[in-house]
Parts: sequence; structure tokens; C-alpha cells
Amino acid sequence: MTNQEKDIIIEVQHISKLYGMNRQDAARMMEAGKDKSEVFKKTGVSVALWDINLKIPRGKIFVIIGLSGSGKSTLVRCFNRLNRPTSGSILFEGRDLSSLSKRELLEFRRTKISMVFQSFGLMSHRDVLGNVAYGLEVKGISREERERKAMETISMVGLQGWEHQSCANLSGGMRQRVGIARALANDPEVLLMDEPFSALDPLVRKDMQFELLQLQRKLGKTVIFITHDIDEAFKLGDTVAIMRDGKIIQVDTPEEMSAHPADDYVSAFINSADKSKVVSVRNIMITPSAIVRTTDSLDHAIRVMSKNALSTVYVVDDQIKLVGILPIRDAIQARNAGSPMADVVHTDLQTTTPDALVADIMPMAAEAVYPIAVIGDDQQFKGIVTKASVLSSLI
Ligand SMILES: Nc1ncnc2c1ncn2[C@@H]1O[C@H](COP(=O)(O)OP(=O)(O)OP(=O)(O)O)[C@@H](O)[C@H]1O
Ligand SMILES: [Mg+2]
Repeated sequence: MTNQEKDIIIEVQHISKLYGMNRQDAARMMEAGKDKSEVFKKTGVSVALWDINLKIPRGKIFVIIGLSGSGKSTLVRCFNRLNRPTSGSILFEGRDLSSLSKRELLEFRRTKISMVFQSFGLMSHRDVLGNVAYGLEVKGISREERERKAMETISMVGLQGWEHQSCANLSGGMRQRVGIARALANDPEVLLMDEPFSALDPLVRKDMQFELLQLQRKLGKTVIFITHDIDEAFKLGDTVAIMRDGKIIQVDTPEEMSAHPADDYVSAFINSADKSKVVSVRNIMITPSAIVRTTDSLDHAIRVMSKNALSTVYVVDDQIKLVGILPIRDAIQARNAGSPMADVVHTDLQTTTPDALVADIMPMAAEAVYPIAVIGDDQQFKGIVTKASVLSSLI
């Protein structure tokens, strides 16, 4: 395997899924460019998926979004072979899923892939521990070992202390934590999540999204997450695929998708999202019109400010690392008093990084006296974000 192939955990090649008798006629009509509803009217065949191609990166969150009926569930159910595609293939770590024998398929589901459902799917006669340990029990793992492992994932999702409660006593958010703990107990490589948070109330849902992000980053699992909600998709997705009528319309990062929507359908979806959650600081920062160095004289700094009609100037060292900001009033006073620049440079600046989201810096921008300084990985001064640029990015 090449390195690139190792980074792709699932590869979907030309899969289609048609429901109904007259599938060949339906496929011919689809090939001729007819749309799904026309095909259904003429042939009675429902085209759930049509010619899907995807490469799903390992260790990332891959979100699939689309309106109801667009084929999201049909597609993810192909990943653990709950559905078999009518044509095309799915490679999991290079291996064609259709080639798995019954035994291999069982083994695959027990070790490689787990699913979290919208409806939680918990067993109400078992307590939290019993539900989480169930998959391990089926695998034939000893009681001691499975309970140890189950307790570990129970605490990962923040449910320690609840392990002996009946699932019937838990709130929706907690039940879904049990669902996640159960899916993780097998230590799968891929977690399939089909609208796992849709049944939760909005505040609990936000908490769960945040916790899923943290958990995924900690464990490095590949998560394939389905949602209707563009805010959720953009918050969670490293990559977002948008579906319509059984086809993939666009696969991109949230940022690219919002900057360059493939068509009106994608734009319509995106316009319902809060832009501050997808636009990063990199896109709104500006370069300061002037900088001075710590080694420059105050006279020089004052001249630079006057020439550029600035009331402040940024001060950097010889590596272009930001030292602070110098207001002209303080510079003049210090020059008149014969003090060095270092005495009057304000070093307590608000800073951020190019990758931060506008939403993250909004509270800071509202409070900040000076523009927020953007500092790169290499500690270099990259630019500034003004209150005005934060506000105008939201339009
Ligand atoms: N067993 C089936 N028999 C016939 N048609 C089906 C079957 N399962 C799915 N479909 C059709 O396939 C299409 C895609 O359905 P799917 O459930 O994958 O959509 P979805 O995007 O998950 O929708 P939702 O957001 O409502 O869950 C729909 O038109 C649906 O009616
Ligand atoms: Mg669905």
C-alpha cells in the first residue's frame, strides 16, 4: 500500500442502490441523465444511490449531509454491509467488502466498524454497563475483561457513576452517551453515526457535538457522521459530503464548501448556517500597514506612524515575531523623556491563530482595545483582525 492508500480507510467506487423490480430499465434511464423522480414514475424503481464515489480519510470526521430521502442512511449502511449495493464496490483498507464470507463479515463488524443509531437502540432490561459490555460479551470476552473495558469507555463519555443505572432512567443525552460508549467498547476503527443527535434538545445536542469532537481527536477514530443540519456538519466535519437524490454533489472542507458551493442546492444549505463557524481568521486578517523593529529609534517609529496616518504601530523583533504595539502618544512622550522604546511598548496584546474560527474570536474582538494580532505556528506575526473585519465577515 502506498502512504496515500493507508490514509484512505474506505473507498467507495461507483456504487448504486436501486430498489424495485425493473432495475435495468431504471439504470438505463439514469445513465441517460433522467432524474430520480422521473425514473420512479416510469419504472417504479427507487434510486436510493447513484454512482457514488468517495475516499474517506482515516482518523478524521467525515460528515454526510442531505435532505430527507437523499440516500444518506442507505449509503452508510453499505459501509457495514447492512445494505448491499446493486453495483459498484466498497473497499475497506483495500479489501472489497462484497468478498467477505459470512464469518469474515461477522468478524469485520465486531472488530472494525460500529454503529450509533438515532434511536439509541439500547436494551432496556440491561443497565448501562450491561449495554456497553454487550458487544464484548458476544465476542466471548471474559466478564472481568469486558467490564474493565466497558468501564473505560463509560468514563470516556462521562458516565462514570451511572454504570448500574437502568437505561430507562437516563435522559436522551445520557442514553446517546451509552450508545457511543457501546460502539467504542469494541475499539473499532470506524464509527458510523446515523443522525445520532437529532432526537436531542438543542443545548444537549451542542454539548454532545463538542464532546464527540474532543473524543474523536483524543482517540483518532474515523467517524462517519450523518446529519440534516449544516451547522452540525460544519462544526464536526473535517470533510463534508453533500447528497441530493442519491448522488454526491460536493465533497469538501467546510471552509471550501462555504467559499465555493458547487451549485444552488449547496448554497441554499450553506446559507442556513452561521458563517462565523466556518470562516477562519486566515480569511479575514489583514496585513498591518506598517511595522517597526525593536532596534528602530522612537523617532523612526513616530515618522512611520505619521506617514501612514496611524495612531499605533506593531513592533516586531528581527525574526518578525510580535513584541507588542506602540501608540503614537506614548512614543512621543518617551522620546521627549529620553526613555527607550521597550518602556512604552504594550505587550499584553490579544492574539489568535490563522486557523481559529471567527466565532471563536468574537468575544475577544468585542472587548479588544487594539486589533487582534494573528500569530502563526512559527510564532511569526502574520496579520491583524480588526473589529470591522470580524463584523463584515458575517454579512
Ligand atoms: N427498503 C427500501 N425500499 C424501497 N426504497 C427504499 C428503501 N430504503 C430506502 N429507500 C429509498 O431510498 C431513498 C433514500 O433513503 P434513505 O433512507 O437512505 O435517505 P436518508 O437520506 O437517510 O433520509 P432521512 O434523512 O429521512 O433519514 C429514499 O427515496 C427511500 O424511499
Ligand atoms: Mg436516514
